Amino acid sequence: GGIALNANASSEGGDATTDSGLVFDPTAYTEKTKTVTDTDGDDHEVTYRFWQAITYVAKPVDETYQCLNVSVPVEIDGTAIDASDAPILFANSVGGYMPSSVADATEVGGGGMSMGGGAGAPSGAPTSSASASALPNANGNTNATGGAMNTNQLLALAAGYVVVEPGARGRTLKNSAGEYYGTAPAAIVDLKAAVRYVRSNKGRIPGDVDRIVSAGTSAGGALSALLGASGDSKLYDTYLAELGAADASDAIFATGTWCPITDLEHADGAYEWNWGANALSTGKQVDQTVSKALQSQFAEYQAGLRLRGLNGFGPLTARNYDAYLLKQYMEPSATAYLAALSDADRETYLAKNTFLTWSGSKATFTWADFLTHVGARKKDAPAFDAFDLSAGENNEFGAGTTLSRHFTAYGAKNDTTGLSSKRVASDIPAKLDLMNPMYHLVEKVNGKRSKHWWIRLGTKDSDTAHTVSANLAAAAKGLGDDVNHLYYWDEGHGANTDPGDFITWIAEVTG
Ligand code: DHB
Repeated sequence: GGIALNANASSEGGDATTDSGLVFDPTAYTEKTKTVTDTDGDDHEVTYRFWQAITYVAKPVDETYQCLNVSVPVEIDGTAIDASDAPILFANSVGGYMPSSVADATEVGGGGMSMGGGAGAPSGAPTSSASASALPNANGNTNATGGAMNTNQLLALAAGYVVVEPGARGRTLKNSAGEYYGTAPAAIVDLKAAVRYVRSNKGRIPGDVDRIVSAGTSAGGALSALLGASGDSKLYDTYLAELGAADASDAIFATGTWCPITDLEHADGAYEWNWGANALSTGKQVDQTVSKALQSQFAEYQAGLRLRGLNGFGPLTARNYDAYLLKQYMEPSATAYLAALSDADRETYLAKNTFLTWSGSKATFTWADFLTHVGARKKDAPAFDAFDLSAGENNEFGAGTTLSRHFTAYGAKNDTTGLSSKRVASDIPAKLDLMNPMYHLVEKVNGKRSKHWWIRLGTKDSDTAHTVSANLAAAAKGLGDDVNHLYYWDEGHGANTDPGDFITWIAEVTG
């Protein structure tokens, strides 16, 4: 079985905050049961206490989003358990930098994006069943993100952990004055406020508030990585004070991040470096002048990072990053995939994928063949700061009554929407730092960062460049952190094919 029960000692007396309205009420739960299928296919009957829609700031802007749910297991397969000192999985369900709400979720894992996606869990039923085994590939579908992460929450609950699910404002929210109030840095400020709420209720809220493990996918993965990197940074203080956030640490003990769509201001260059040779699904090539210009921006950026590859690879540059990705990640990923297949299935796969050499139980291939194997790139050039302001990220950097803005010099310079200014607005650079984990790991070295990193990405995910996750891993590792990073072979965007291993990893790093 992939599940380790966590039965710990009872809670100590608390030093919880008395901030008005931010006091967790230990009695305000409803009891629920859930059948969770583990990664071996075995069912577990979990009885848990569920706290719904707790507003986590004293001065909320929008309580639909600025609230969290708490799930605490009390009995698993008929055995009483005490989760008062268990690790806390802090699982956001942000996708696409969109608003995400848990306000209407009536059970663990029931929250999600406001765009109609989310976990799709049945609501209202006191007992329901859900499979937490490996989910199908969510290629190209941001709406599937909530579903993939829902697996983590279910497995965590069945492992005896406390599960906290925060909502957060997102980029499309607009008030009656026409002002966007969920654009950067709203989502990260909200998630930090939620962490502070949990921490400030130490002794009242079940779980070990000093063992918070953050998780998220895609934009939610970016925010999870950012929570991990930016713990207790002073840069967010004024935003947090404005919301009446609890006065407590927002540092995260360990970080889980799946396909993080992050390092946004450098992602256009990285994308062209990675996928520049790949055509769009229409068969069309992107503008090669734009692609080449962006590629040279990546070369400069990557050199400036001064990162070293894992396992003694040496300095990572635009020239050697293909070899690095191939040897460190892609070939080992294919090797693990093929090794797990039956002989017959492996033969079938190899016959269909002749670019791949299987010898001595190892997969080898060239970078060029790997790119061909991935096929169509998901995004046009530039992928993130679109000249016509059409990318979701343009909206993420909107402000006031302006829906979408440029956030790179190159995007602004090449604007096609008729803007009078060809430069990024003056507030953008500071907001980019607030949104970028690399800022907190490389430019500043935040001593309060998470020291444990679980990073996952599908090899066929072209929502961003493969270098984004690999740079995050290299930066954390370079600071001496514990990094567990691998790519899921042939999986697309939002994949989470080893959720049981993540749950085991939580036990290891928090144990
Ligand atoms: C997500 C996907 C994207 O391609 C992107 O640019 C931002 C976010 C997502 O799935 O969350």
